[in-house]
Amino acid sequence: MTTDEEIRKLKEERNALILAHNYQLPEIQDVADIVGDSLELAVKASEAQESVLIVCGVLFMAETAKLLSPEKTVLIPVPDAGCPLADHLTPEMVLEARKKHPDAAVVVYVNSTAAVKAVADITCTSANAADVVRSLPEKTILFGPDANLASFVQKQVPEKDIIPLPPEGHCYVHTAFTVDQVEEARSHGCRIVCHPECRPEVQEISDLVTSTGGMVRHADECDSWFVCTEREMGYRLRSLYPDREFLLPEDAVCEDMKKTKREDLLRSLQNGVHEVIIDEDVLGPAKRAVERMIRIRR
Ligand code: 13P
Ligand code: SF4
Repeated sequence: MTTDEEIRKLKEERNALILAHNYQLPEIQDVADIVGDSLELAVKASEAQESVLIVCGVLFMAETAKLLSPEKTVLIPVPDAGCPLADHLTPEMVLEARKKHPDAAVVVYVNSTAAVKAVADITCTSANAADVVRSLPEKTILFGPDANLASFVQKQVPEKDIIPLPPEGHCYVHTAFTVDQVEEARSHGCRIVCHPECRPEVQEISDLVTSTGGMVRHADECDSWFVCTEREMGYRLRSLYPDREFLLPEDAVCEDMKKTKREDLLRSLQNGVHEVIIDEDVLGPAKRAVERMIRIRR
């Protein structure tokens, strides 16, 4: 039996659902039940009938699934797959900012720790950030940890005052994209789509700024795209639209997203590892912040 066949057999036996982010290696995307962006994975996790959820992605994605389904067993095949962006914001920073802005609401990107979510009013993803902010009665919004996503939301929702928390939180993969790269791609006839974690000046000259799920939904609108996001998004887009061209730099790599290999997924199914456990005192308030977001959807 091949490793993929073993994974599929064990998945049935264990009543498990395999969820994979769009940036996962092809070998993981190919064997997953669901491949999607952070919001799609969170929604599918909340609706799943299976008793075991295996999240192939980074830790905040597995934690979000656990927050939405605390009664289920949620596994992450490689527990040290993290998101360096999430490390830009601590609960202490949120509490300090709340003292300075007592009338503000706190919106945190799902790319954050469970402890940070626990001190937020609501979470958001790149797919629903503007809708989440619009839904709030408060005029001032403390928004973290991604300052570029904060700037994107400010443009979409000009009636609010968005304060990025911290002012310089960013993702190293997305901030590496430059205006020169975009202009070069455009000179070759490509349409440009970028993730809202890219720098404001890159967002400004892109044709479309959207989540990875949004990239999938818009992919058939033109023949040739330059895609400013993580490399494996190219695999996902080409699998769905083999007749279109998607150009992504080979070095746009999120190291943590590459840690999960098919052998890790197999081991996870065989041994029930690694179980996501969230402290009781964090679970309740963090769950509330994520559930409030899920009610808004897109
Ligand atoms: P999406 O929710 O758009 O997939 O983004 C997740 C992420 O980590 C982007 O770097
Ligand atoms: Fe985090 Fe950036 Fe990797 Fe996304 S691409 S998981 S934001 S480090």
